[in-house]
Amino acid sequence: MKFTLTEEQTMIQQTAREFAEQEIAPTAIERDKNAEFPTEIVKKLGELGFMGMMVDPKYDGAGMDTISYALAMMEISKVDASVGVIMSVNNSLVTFGLERWASEAVKEKYLKPLARGDKLGAFALSEPEAGSDATQQHTMAHKEGDFWVLNGMKNWITNGTSADYYIVFAQTDKEKRHKGITAFLVEKGTPGFTHGVKEDKLGIRSSDTCSLSFDNCKVPEENILWEVGKGFNFAMNTLNGGRYGIASQAVGIAMGAYEKALKYSKERKAFGTEIANHQAIQFKLADMATKIEAAKLLTLQACGLKDEGKDYIKEASMAKLFASETAMEVTRDAVQILGGYGYVREYEVERMYRDAKITEIYEGTSEIQRIVIGRAITRD
Ligand code: CAA
Repeated sequence: MKFTLTEEQTMIQQTAREFAEQEIAPTAIERDKNAEFPTEIVKKLGELGFMGMMVDPKYDGAGMDTISYALAMMEISKVDASVGVIMSVNNSLVTFGLERWASEAVKEKYLKPLARGDKLGAFALSEPEAGSDATQQHTMAHKEGDFWVLNGMKNWITNGTSADYYIVFAQTDKEKRHKGITAFLVEKGTPGFTHGVKEDKLGIRSSDTCSLSFDNCKVPEENILWEVGKGFNFAMNTLNGGRYGIASQAVGIAMGAYEKALKYSKERKAFGTEIANHQAIQFKLADMATKIEAAKLLTLQACGLKDEGKDYIKEASMAKLFASETAMEVTRDAVQILGGYGYVREYEVERMYRDAKITEIYEGTSEIQRIVIGRAITRD
């Protein structure tokens, strides 16, 4: 595996860094405080081609590789992890699956505006009683003429109130366990489809998360994605891609906290010298830098394998597991290095500490990643 970035990858990383520093960072504290969705920023991300980064240009995407996507995600998440997850869901969980498994008509109608960033997507798999055990879908769909009628509830849906198009999973044949699950494309505004209020969250507060409810919601037959009974495979294959997206988000959060801690340690004096000169601080910084580098390499490795058309399931899970735990450890140490300043909103590492936690939970908890890795290494 070669780790030298190409000229194009470096350029995309630089573009993302400048955009993050100039357009996202200055307002991140306020958005977090007010739990305010970054509508204008998401629009600009679309203009930069960052909402459909890996989608083929024939479907209005930017046609970039997965490594470029990861690098951009890291830069964006470094200054605001909420913006990172909004971008990740549209790229990894929505446009990825639609490009691979939707009909040409669905791609024309829904994928193109999503890839341009004109519309926003959401991925509705989790339910009140189906989180890690995703086969236990209680949302049901039955056929009536040319329509499928959905009834049920979804939980913890990122972009839940702001999205225009939702990929919704439902049981179409209860007897068949995961082979009886089907994926549907549901438009906001479809009668019978409503969303709940925004959750009041610990972190990633300016992204919006809510429940969805389906009450005799009629979806046209042509909005079935892939085919009837393929929904679980759709979800699992999509989540593999989601996992290097969240790994990139976690690396970005850790990078942001580390840079703030390093800068602070070179300015703050205690016991007659900058605290960066104390070994207690240097050891912390050394561990932080090493873990970030390892997490970044694992993440880029998973993305590189995907770009080469190779199997990357185990590597994506390893990247997410390690990067999310790194994000927790690094942000905790950054708060510790900043001391009292680290505990207040103004210095931002407390937000990064709160934001980091979700990376160990969504798109497969750390426990689920260990299951995926464990199964893969004992099967090989
Ligand atoms: N990639 C591709 N296919 C996979 C797969 C993977 N990683 N894992 C399982 N599958 C396939 C299997 O090959 C099998 O397919 P076939 O029947 O066609 O052979 C099928 O899925 C069922 O496999 P298992 O019997 O092994 O499934 P299981 O019930 O034991 O569950 C699991 C496997 C890995 C635990 C899975 O349930 C899982 O990943 N759970 C976590 C769900 C999750 O990540 N939820 C996140 C919600 S989305 C979110 O957070 C988005 C957001 O808003 C930010």
